[in-house]
This record gives sequence, structure tokens and C-alpha cells, in this order.
Amino acid sequence: MKVLVIGSGGREHAIAYALHKSPKVNEIHAIPGNPGIAAIGTCHPGSVEDIEGILKFVEENKIDLTVVGPEVPLCMGLVDVLEDAGHKVFGPRKYAANFEGSKAFSKDFMVRHNLPTAAYKEVNSYDEACLALADFSYPVVVKADGLAAGKGVVICDNEEMAKATLKEMLVDGILDGAGSKVVLEEFLTGYECSLLCFVDGKTIVPMVYAKDHKQIYDENKGPNTGGMGTVSPNPFMPEGMDEILKEDILNPFLKGLQEENIDYRGVVFIGLMIENNKAKVLEFNVRFGDPETQSILLRLDSDLFDIMNAVATKTLDQIEVKWKDEHVACLVLASGGYPGSYEKGKVITGLDKVSEDIIVFHAGTKMVDNQLVTSGGRVLNICALGLSLEDTRKKVYQAAEMIDFEGKYYRKDIGLN
Ligand code: AMP
Ligand code: GLY
Repeated sequence: MKVLVIGSGGREHAIAYALHKSPKVNEIHAIPGNPGIAAIGTCHPGSVEDIEGILKFVEENKIDLTVVGPEVPLCMGLVDVLEDAGHKVFGPRKYAANFEGSKAFSKDFMVRHNLPTAAYKEVNSYDEACLALADFSYPVVVKADGLAAGKGVVICDNEEMAKATLKEMLVDGILDGAGSKVVLEEFLTGYECSLLCFVDGKTIVPMVYAKDHKQIYDENKGPNTGGMGTVSPNPFMPEGMDEILKEDILNPFLKGLQEENIDYRGVVFIGLMIENNKAKVLEFNVRFGDPETQSILLRLDSDLFDIMNAVATKTLDQIEVKWKDEHVACLVLASGGYPGSYEKGKVITGLDKVSEDIIVFHAGTKMVDNQLVTSGGRVLNICALGLSLEDTRKKVYQAAEMIDFEGKYYRKDIGLN
């Protein structure tokens, strides 16, 4: 089978790596891919947003399955275009992608189907938002409705900050169209958990739990990033949550899809806040998480191609999805300055020194004059399987010392805080 992976990050490298293990997959292609993917497949220049270009590539190269990594092409309707032309795709169609493309869409769905989530109010203007603030206590969470590349959620400690944030989004338009509608939300406390599930519209299969570390500094300080590291299993997950999550969240989600005839095939990533053995939904994403996927797929003990094919063809009920009873840590090596501005083009050394049981996924790298250099904020994802959290942490931190580039930065407390 010929598979095409759309995207260029560590998530897409992890997906390609898992697909490469399948005896059924004999060719992996990526648009645009990265140097890590290039070691196991063929990368083709192009943009993930060039829908016509991707369709042309799929037709010319007779691709059997296209796997879409990032949310932007999903929300643009890439899957609709490929499927309507008769091609098999892993990822939701445009309407279903609204679960991530519009916070208001997903909040309204949760209310209609009784999924537990933070209290909220949708507002369309600055004046309306200021009036609505009276119904919330502080901190209050201000969320841009649309896609904002991780910059759309601001936790505001007081009224002054909330009004300034609302003005930036609703009046100044700093997030362009993404902030022209805003959701105000009750601030929730507890532990976060990333719950990713395969879903084909009829069946939902939860993956193993993961814990992301969103903030840039240790002890969860500083601004949010795309994610500075993950561990799986999630060490903060209380025992006995599987049934509670199934009853309170997964079953009503699936029932809601069916009642509303929403054709959702792909991954649903449910961001959860857990407190006192109760979970509330923080957000839905319509794609694999990054860097959750890097940890989760290393624990997969089934053929990812079979699963993706079953999802695309609505036969997920016929597949057994098995997991390794091991721990995985994924540590992000970032460019100094990220998530603010940072320099690119720094030479990366030491990848050849890390021990063989370390898997390094490329996230923001490129080859220039035969040298591997940095090209993004999150540069490399160092991953290891282990018998315990301690064991896997030890392995990834040892490897982090061996790999080098100017300005290298990483959190020291992945899996601990
Ligand atoms: P989201 O994109 O909605 O997941 O928000 C990004 C991050 O903001 C989450 O991972 C949480 O850390 C935080 N967050 C979002 N909504 C809330 C909330 N209602 N209460 C507390 N923290 C939140
Ligand atoms: N790591 C969080 C996300 O992928 O949205």
C-alpha cells in the first residue's frame, strides 16, 4: 500500500514511523514531511493547505490512503475534496472538523448532548462580552472561537485583563477572523489529561491516556506552547476512570454524532480536566495531538494501517486495538526563545551518539548543505519506552544531554508536574 502523510511535525513523523512498521505499507510519502520522515519515506515539497495540489499528487501517485496530520487542512475541507474524488482518507470531513474549528460549535454540541464541560457564554461583540463578564468570577477563560494556532486561549486573572484581552480579540482583531466571536468560560481546576480516540461514526476506541506539559517552564510556569513533552500513561489519572469517561463522555459524544448525522471518521482528541474523579471536557481537537501522538503510538501494539483503514471504511468494530503495558516519555527540545521569537538554522549535532533504544522524532528540522539544522520552535522529540516513568525519564534526559544545538532548551520535569 502507498500511504501519504500530510504535515511536517513530530506528530507526522510518529505517524509515519508507526505506519512504516506495518507489513502492508510499502511506500510512505509526505507533503511536505521532514528529514526524519525522509529516512523512512519520500518527502515532496508543497503546502498542507494546497488542496488541489494534494489531490493531484494523490491521483498521479495512486495513493491508497492519505492521513491528514494538522487541523488547518481538515477545517479547510481537504478530506471532502479527496473523498469526493474517490480516495480513501484518514481524518474528519469539514463539517465534523468544526469540533476544533469553532469553540462555540463544540460547546453547543456538548450542551445538547449533556457532556460535562465548563459553564460558558458565547459573545459576538466587545460590549456584549463586557456585560457577560458579570456572570463569571476570576480567573475567567477567554477563548477565540476559531483556529488560532494555540494563541486563542487566555486565562484572565481580573476584569482589567479580561477586558484588554477581549478588546484585542473583538476590536483590534489580533487573531484575524478567529477572534471575531469569543467564548467566555468558567475556569476549571484539576489535572489535565489528553484522551485521544479512534472514531468511525459507529465505534469509538479510546487510546491510552497521555499527559501533555503545555507551559514553557518547569512547574507549569510561563506561557503556553504547543506542548513541551508528554508521558503515557498519565501519572495523574486516578484509578477507575475508564468506565466514568465512557459513560459521561465517550458514549454521549458518539450518540450525539449519530443523532445529528455527523460523519466523524479519524481521531478525536478530548482535552480533559479531572478533579475528584470527575472529568470535564476542556476542548475537542479533530486530529492527533502533538506531542501526545509521539508517546501514544509508541505504545501501540496493533497495526496502525489496519486501524486507519478500518476508520476510513467504517469497520473499526472489526479491529482489535492493543497497547503495550509500558511507559513512554517524549521530551521536546526547543529553540531558545520559543514560544516567542527564536533563531533558526542552528546546526544540530549528537544524534548519532544517543543509545539505540531512543527514538528521535523530527519536529522543526531541515537539511541545508547536507547538515541538519533547526527550522522551528519545537525542534526534536526524544522518546523512550521503559518499565516505569522513572526509567523512561532517565533515558530521555540522558539523550537530551547528548544532542546539541545553539540555544537548546527543554523542561526538566516532564512526567512530574
Ligand atoms: P484549549 O485550547 O481549549 O485546550 O485550551 C488550552 C489550555 O488552556 C488547556 O490545555 C488548559 O490548560 C487551559 N484551559 C482551557 N480552558 C480552560 C478552563 N475552562 N479552565 C482552566 N483552564 C483552561
Ligand atoms: N498538545 C496539544 C495539542 O496537540 O493540541
